[in-house]
Amino acid sequence: MRLEIESRSPEQTFRLGCALGRLLTGGEVLGLSGELGAGKTQLVRGLAQGLDIDPDVIYSPSFTLVAEHDGRLRLNHIDLFRLGERVEQSDEEEIGLTEYLVPAGVTVIEWYRKLDKPPAAWSLEIDLAVHEGERRTITLEGRGERAARMLDALARDSTWH
Ligand SMILES: Nc1ncnc2c1ncn2[C@@H]1O[C@H](COP(=O)(O)OP(=O)(O)OP(=O)(O)O)[C@@H](O)[C@H]1O
Ligand SMILES: [Mg+2]
Repeated sequence: MRLEIESRSPEQTFRLGCALGRLLTGGEVLGLSGELGAGKTQLVRGLAQGLDIDPDVIYSPSFTLVAEHDGRLRLNHIDLFRLGERVEQSDEEEIGLTEYLVPAGVTVIEWYRKLDKPPAAWSLEIDLAVHEGERRTITLEGRGERAARMLDALARDSTWH
């Protein structure tokens, strides 16, 4: 199932993230893609809010690789930008990434397309495409019944419109 959303502002992207965050129940892995400044971290700030985590503690964890935050669920926020072009399977194991791919909480990965092969645990892939001004097209895609239910609920949630 695929859901395409037009965001007109950073605030709207935040509200979308928040609505999505409220729908998460644990065990989800979210992969984020989109160019520098597309709004990936802004979406994660909203996700944090939806998980009862202070959004102001969220930043691009480019230097730390993984930042863990405790809220209604634990949020593992990963950013692979600094890892070079491609992350080999062996690197994944070395940096301990594999343990986050079957999470008890929620794991969100910025620049997840750098991964060698998408882990089987993917529940949602979220791409942000930049248009002029503050317009973004945010495409959420998920396989399976659980992802479909989540996207359906998100589409019907009026709080981010
Ligand atoms: N509709 C929008 N949604 C999200 N952010 C927007 C939007 N319009 C403008 N912006 C601005 O774009 C920037 C997005 O920055 P953000 O750090 O979230 O991007 P990013 O995709 O995480 O980049 P990076 O790859 O460097 O980590 C912010 O300054 C935000 O205010
Ligand atoms: Mg970022």
